[in-house]
Amino acid sequence: MKTVIANWKMNGSESLLRQVEKTVPRNGKVRVGLCPPYTLLGKKHRKDIWWGAQNVFYEKEGAYTGEISVSLLCECNINFVLVGHSERRMKFGETDEVIGKKLQAVIGAGLTAVFCLGETKDQREKGQTYSVLQSQMQVLNTISVKLWKYILIAYEPVWAIGTGVNATNQQVAQAHAWLHNWIATHRSKSLPILYGGSVNEKNAPELLKVKYVDGLLVGGASLKPKEFAHIVAYANDS
Ligand code: PGA
Repeated sequence: MKTVIANWKMNGSESLLRQVEKTVPRNGKVRVGLCPPYTLLGKKHRKDIWWGAQNVFYEKEGAYTGEISVSLLCECNINFVLVGHSERRMKFGETDEVIGKKLQAVIGAGLTAVFCLGETKDQREKGQTYSVLQSQMQVLNTISVKLWKYILIAYEPVWAIGTGVNATNQQVAQAHAWLHNWIATHRSKSLPILYGGSVNEKNAPELLKVKYVDGLLVGGASLKPKEFAHIVAYANDS
């Protein structure tokens, strides 16, 4: 089963939510996820849509103005949380240590974590892609392997996010194979690996055919209900 997740970032509205609910195909064999902004998380939504938060703070409660805890998110019946998105890492200074604590908090509450990682343009050009992935993946070693079943990986090269330049099928194939092998050396079962970064209805069909691509994390194109519905339909056929 493929997973296609919409990440609306700091965009979206209730009317967009209703349009997406109308447009996205039902009863497919794809798991369709949606991460709207916090203000929409408490709204009624289609029960077959996997409901996710874009971020969370790891402490249970307390004087953390502007932050939200896992238990508060659970009041909105969420299923999963994005952890380690590159915008959190780059724009809000999230370190591997913080990301590890967030993973613990999310998984500890019985939710699924979509663990995002990927290299910058500069790192790729310097040939550091795999050493960067290697160091980002170390965070998983802070979590008991028994709990890894609550984790999905999202490979999102930073240079491909929101730029209109997706990674080529070959780059995706290499990175996903590398991640697959890393997981295989630590655990008997694989974990789903999603690709994200400028996914749209044109490139989705080919990206979905790449080996070890178990789904997509879609930003900009997920704000266009028809385009997002097409991407879900391709995943359903793939
Ligand atoms: P994008 O964003 O599809 O707009 O590149 C993807 C993401 O940030 O998850």
